[in-house]
Amino acid sequence: MDLGIIGAGYVGLTTAACFAHLGHEVTCADANPALVAKLSAGDLHLAEPDLDRLVADGLAAGRLRFVADAADAADADVVFVCVGTPSDDDGSADLSAVVAVVERLAPVLRRNAVVVNKSTVPVGTTRRVRELLVERPDVAVVSNPEFLSEGHAVRSFLDPSRVVVGGDDAAAITRVADLYKEVGAPTLRTDSASAELIKYAANAFLATKISFVNAIANLCEMVGADVRDVSLGMGHDPRIGFQYLEPGPGFGGSCLPKDVRALVHSSEQAGYDFALLQGVIEVNDEQRDRVVAKVRDLAGGTLDGVTVGVLGLAFKADTDDVRDSPALAIVERLVEEGAVVQAFDPAIRSVDVAVTMGRDGYEAARGARVVVVLTEWSEFRSLDFERLAAEMERPAIVDARNLFNPNVLRHHGFEYTGIGR
Ligand code: UDX
Repeated sequence: MDLGIIGAGYVGLTTAACFAHLGHEVTCADANPALVAKLSAGDLHLAEPDLDRLVADGLAAGRLRFVADAADAADADVVFVCVGTPSDDDGSADLSAVVAVVERLAPVLRRNAVVVNKSTVPVGTTRRVRELLVERPDVAVVSNPEFLSEGHAVRSFLDPSRVVVGGDDAAAITRVADLYKEVGAPTLRTDSASAELIKYAANAFLATKISFVNAIANLCEMVGADVRDVSLGMGHDPRIGFQYLEPGPGFGGSCLPKDVRALVHSSEQAGYDFALLQGVIEVNDEQRDRVVAKVRDLAGGTLDGVTVGVLGLAFKADTDDVRDSPALAIVERLVEEGAVVQAFDPAIRSVDVAVTMGRDGYEAARGARVVVVLTEWSEFRSLDFERLAAEMERPAIVDARNLFNPNVLRHHGFEYTGIGR
């Protein structure tokens, strides 16, 4: 089929490259002409395994092209809207980019096209888009939320746990569902409101698991239990499962925090007080303060003028993304309290915070009174602790991702603080 993809961010670019890989003719539009030029040359702005290869293959086969005007991607059987929906101050999703795109597309869409909302949008947006297309009764609108996990975007697309397509036009739903036939995942056909809510409910549930295990970790510290054993003991129950039970500095990234806030906001608007999720947000905010307090304690009660080595700035391992990164928020607080921060992240060369970037973990630790691990990069596990200790003013580590064996670190002379153990 001829497909139009509007937006070349994580979601749009992955969608475009993967559909081209599945054999469709794809035109991907992004309002940023410099980005379009880069992508047309096969030069990617994000680090995702396999994505560069799929883009290169698509370009070489002539099945993938990039354009700067959404209207140039409108002559298609199906057009996916994959533009950003950032948080407004009150937590609600800002839909101005979605509205602008739909208004631009309306007069130029192919006859009987299907417009697909893939951006994460509040319940009711599919209907709102339908209203914006009042002049185009021939065009159907459906919701097809994405469940891409950063660092695994291509795999999430080509081997998804499920495909969700919602709307009230059965033929349009079938047309969109058929695009995913080859990936062989369970496919749910729903009304549009349910499809929209599935995305928020899934992300809010993952966030709830993380805040739950962080709260349990905090309790573990008070009663002398080890959260790793507790979560293992919980996870063996298949009704609970092992995933999303890793305690740490709290959840971050471009989706979980934003989607939880947006769900609280839309619940409020619908007249429902989603107090449970308020608690999830509170635990998450508090978790950052708790990590700062651990660093301050190990530093001897104050951070003023203290050198702190930071390992990891990305919001999670295997990505260079720092959007809403707990690591970055913690670094900002350390700096506010007067710490001199030296950081290292395998995927990041610079950030907009007053830190010195080291070339490796040892350089970040040089002369530091405390080292704090904020992202769970597996390469940190193979650090030479002897050497790390020798670099530091004195060996002390806050392991906010529970990456290390405390006994091994203590054996190397480190004062060690983890999370919930
Ligand atoms: C998430 C969802 O997983 C994905 O399905 C959705 O489409 C987009 O949002 P992503 O933003 O890539 O994907 O992040 P994810 O891997 O879910 O991690 C989110 C945050 O939770 C990270 O900060 C991570 O470090 C944290 N996390 C995750 C924990 O603290 N503990 C865990 O056990 C799991």
